[in-house]
Amino acid sequence: MTTVNSATPADSVPAARSSGALVEVHDLRKNYQLGETEVHALRGVTLSIHPGDFVAIMGASGSGKSTFMNILGCLDKPTSGRYLLEGTDVSSLTKKELARIRNQKIGFVFQGFNLLGRTTALENTELPMLYSKTNNKDRERRAREALDHVGLSDRADHFPSQLSGGQQQRVAIARALVNLPRILLADEPTGNLDSRTSVEVIEIFQRLNASGLTIILVTHEPDIAQFAKREIVFRDGQIRRDDVVEVPRVASEVLKTMPTIEG
Ligand SMILES: Nc1ncnc2c1ncn2[C@@H]1O[C@H](COP(=O)(O)OP(=O)(O)OP(=O)(O)O)[C@@H](O)[C@H]1O
Ligand SMILES: [Mg+2]
Repeated sequence: MTTVNSATPADSVPAARSSGALVEVHDLRKNYQLGETEVHALRGVTLSIHPGDFVAIMGASGSGKSTFMNILGCLDKPTSGRYLLEGTDVSSLTKKELARIRNQKIGFVFQGFNLLGRTTALENTELPMLYSKTNNKDRERRAREALDHVGLSDRADHFPSQLSGGQQQRVAIARALVNLPRILLADEPTGNLDSRTSVEVIEIFQRLNASGLTIILVTHEPDIAQFAKREIVFRDGQIRRDDVVEVPRVASEVLKTMPTIEG
């Protein structure tokens, strides 16, 4: 067993700015206390992610993927270790500062879409801007632009129950993009979708990535991971593999080979 020296001097970790990394984590650990037992959800994760990367994270259920994503997304704090987001040491920030960074720099997409049911696609997309000082007119314009980006201009006034699963996920993507984040975090975004709709969602991700957005995607499906540029496999709270995807699949090409519902 190696012992971790929590008093590691700050200068032993290279600054993210000098390395050009967008995300830099060093010996990240997360323990959950469950009654008498302690769950070691992350057991020393070290990695860097650079601007423009498209990373797929795989691994068995319980291997720590969501725990890792929640820390990257500033929804949760690590028990120990360092997390630099664009050179800012996130571990030292207050809850309020974390919320601001989350709102400005991070877009989230979840498996369950997490849309507000009694709110239209447009209003759902506007939500992240309610916390900023955007005026009503700009808010609506930007939300419409984001919906346009995901091909849903004509569904702006629909409620989630009036949209297909794929369309709901696209609203969630529009909502994640509306504040122009630096990084898009997607935790099993295709988990509830059929295979064609999954590839349609990935096609949007590849388009966003081509225009410079950094994406980290958790998936259980090896086929989906092959659309990314880099594949990381977690096991028992640690990184087991971290490989370049030599020839990523191209979603727009794959879609041509897949049947549509209309047949
Ligand atoms: N709030 C919590 N309290 C206690 N234990 C937790 C908590 N959240 C997660 N865990 C435990 O931490 C470990 C990692 O969980 P995590 O949700 O990160 O796994 P995962 O890789 O996302 O799994 P899945 O593929 O099923 O989504 C699991 O053993 C889980 O039971
Ligand atoms: Mg999970």
